[in-house]
Amino acid sequence: MIIKKAVFPAAGFGTRFLPATKAIPKEMLPLVDKPLIQYALEEAKDSGLQEMIIVTGMGKTAIEDHFDTSFELEILLKERGKDELLKMIQNVSGLVHFAYTRQKKPLGLGHAISITKNLINNEPFAVFLGDDIIDAKVPAMKQMIRVFNECRSSVLAVQKVPKSQAHLYGVIKGKKVAPGIYRVLDLVEKPKENPPSNLAIIGRYILTPEIFNALEKTTPGKGGEIQLTDAIKILLRTQEVYAYEFDGCRYDAGDKLGFLMANVSLALKRPELRNDFRKFLKGLKL
Ligand code: UTP
Repeated sequence: MIIKKAVFPAAGFGTRFLPATKAIPKEMLPLVDKPLIQYALEEAKDSGLQEMIIVTGMGKTAIEDHFDTSFELEILLKERGKDELLKMIQNVSGLVHFAYTRQKKPLGLGHAISITKNLINNEPFAVFLGDDIIDAKVPAMKQMIRVFNECRSSVLAVQKVPKSQAHLYGVIKGKKVAPGIYRVLDLVEKPKENPPSNLAIIGRYILTPEIFNALEKTTPGKGGEIQLTDAIKILLRTQEVYAYEFDGCRYDAGDKLGFLMANVSLALKRPELRNDFRKFLKGLKL
């Protein structure tokens, strides 16, 4: 069971970023100089995944264009001798295969995943929510694949969050079975009170194909949407599910504050920006 396929649900409306996301997909907002979705895609590629399945919706054609070859741009860069830039844009989509499927209505994350069933073809697969940017020495998904290879079950990425923030996440109740690894006993989507733990689900999943049967049985939950968390709860009735506390720094770039933090932190890591940007930040009268 080798994991080859990665699903990127990208059909949400991105309401937390209006008005910016009225005509531009949230996934195309730039972090320093790369669109959000490219970070997740590079993580997938660096984790050894080869087939990228992007779930798009209305107004999301910029995502397809971004990962497509742009002959005109490549010729122009070649003529102008801009070899570095040329290499950079060729790298974006090189060596991986893309498939796109369209979610006609944003009926929820679970629904977005359910429509990839025919493309997944009965194999375990990875899911990346592009909002979650994970800065890690070893790509977070690569770490998760190691856990999957041990447990041969679905693996959810989790992170400890303050209990006061648990209502913003899916939260697991788990039994620790190894350092950073929990067997999931239960999970609750956005608990209003008494979260079962401080372990929140972050936007990286490895799912077994039985999730599709579970999704078929899932009725609309919070916000009238088909919730992936509810489907995983159904999956738990017949299969073990594990949660893994990955090593790395995660930013919620789908939220304004998280997006700003990610921009500052990633910019400070860029050799060409680091010194001047640090000088500028130090000069701010905070
Ligand atoms: P979010 O809950 O962040 O929703 O979805 P959103 O629409 O992107 O953003 P806000 O909350 O309105 O600002 C989590 C992920 O699931 C995808 C989104 O694109 C995002 O990657 N999604 C959500 C879908 O693909 N389809 C849906 O129906 C809902």
